[in-house]
Amino acid sequence: MKNYPYVITVSSEKGGVGKTTLATNLAIFLKALNEHLPVSIFSFDNHFTVDKMFSIKGQKLTGTVAELLMETKGCDLLHTGQFGVSYIPSSTTLPELRGSLKGPMALAKILANSDIPGIIIVDTRPDLDIMTQNALFAADRVLVPIKDMASMDNCRNIFELFEKRGLDRKSLSLIPCLIDERIKFEGLFKDQKTLLKAFAINRGYRCSETFISKSPKVESLNTNPDGKIYPILTHGRGTDVYSQFTALGQTALREYADTKEPRALLFDNWQKEEDKRKKEAYFGRLTGLKSECMICGKELKQDSQVAYYCESSDGAAQGFIESDCFTGFLISAIFRIERELASDDPTRLMINQTARESVFVLNPAEGGSPASIDFHRFNLSGAELLKKQYPLAREPERDGFTGIVQGTLAGYEGQLRDAFLMVHPVDGDNPASILVDESYRELNKLKKTIAAQL
Ligand SMILES: Nc1ncnc2c1ncn2[C@@H]1O[C@H](COP(=O)(O)OP(=O)(O)O)[C@@H](O)[C@H]1O
Ligand SMILES: [Mg+2]
Repeated sequence: MKNYPYVITVSSEKGGVGKTTLATNLAIFLKALNEHLPVSIFSFDNHFTVDKMFSIKGQKLTGTVAELLMETKGCDLLHTGQFGVSYIPSSTTLPELRGSLKGPMALAKILANSDIPGIIIVDTRPDLDIMTQNALFAADRVLVPIKDMASMDNCRNIFELFEKRGLDRKSLSLIPCLIDERIKFEGLFKDQKTLLKAFAINRGYRCSETFISKSPKVESLNTNPDGKIYPILTHGRGTDVYSQFTALGQTALREYADTKEPRALLFDNWQKEEDKRKKEAYFGRLTGLKSECMICGKELKQDSQVAYYCESSDGAAQGFIESDCFTGFLISAIFRIERELASDDPTRLMINQTARESVFVLNPAEGGSPASIDFHRFNLSGAELLKKQYPLAREPERDGFTGIVQGTLAGYEGQLRDAFLMVHPVDGDNPASILVDESYRELNKLKKTIAAQL
């Protein structure tokens, strides 16, 4: 059975609010509270705190979060770390990867396929860049530390992002952090945490019951002559923060236990449905194909030199065209060259070459009597390069258009349908690849671009 991780992301656009302290120590407390539960962590930041805290001396490192984002399987990147927490080493090259991430759902997909068990904690950079967005969208629970009004104002952007993407804002919870309990106010809101909580709730944000105090002890765990980062679990016993992390850990474990289907599992199911749908759509397109060449009408065989895909804009006719047939059509019907051109004739070779780099469109010209065909050539990005009108001959076999036009655009009682025909080059070794999901989507985009110009 595949494993699907439960993902907790710690995020805030503000730095210095205690994200990394929260992420790393929560991982350690979770493991301490339930030693059988696999807990792992990685960070999108480049300060290597995760590595400093969890790596084991002399450990050989293989792979980092950069490889994770490049779709190396997550469970293969986990390193056994200190305190029983597994970690994926951090990377300094993440900014270079931003461009290659396929949108904000990439990490959700990667984690759905990661086979990482238990809980995984993701620490983020103090901004809402594409990496953080990915960490937010992959999360079952997002923890947003706030320490003052400024950091609360900042989290509005996270909420707006959730709103915009239709994500459940109930998965977001604010945690008042670095709370100085010596500060007391007069009146209703007697201290910092009560004030922050009231403001949060007033704005419709969910706020954690537990808050984290500002503690000189915790601060000293980061700054010491050993240059190490010590965990609260082992070095902060007896402090308020110790009990607060215990409470946070217990809440997280409860929520984890209550989540029967983590997002990774839901995403995987959705992905399987999508794959099935794409496959069915592809086979649907394959069965709709004509089995003959769209120009000469001869049955296409395994060894036919197929070179073009041809589709009518109304979807009624779809099929392939043999290389020689289409070049022959261009030579006789378009260039009006009467004599036979040998296969190595330079004119023929040039016409053939041009055709491989073009998209052709034929459509019945409006009005005109006798009926005419508008012939257009576009480049592969859909920019029009040429347009010319060709009258159709009274005896159809004489104009060279009959095969291609009658076979595809024939309508009611000898009329042509109000549609256009698009001819696009394909890979001769695997012509049907143009009908596969992404290529076909591209082709449709091109078709739209072209239709807008007709
Ligand atoms: N509960 C706490 N009490 C005192 N200092 C803290 C506490 N939590 C974090 N700090 C200190 O605050 C600073 C910022 O914390 P950090 O976790 O790195 O925040 P972020 O990841 O949001 O930038 C660090 O120096 C850290 O040691
Ligand atoms: Mg940090």
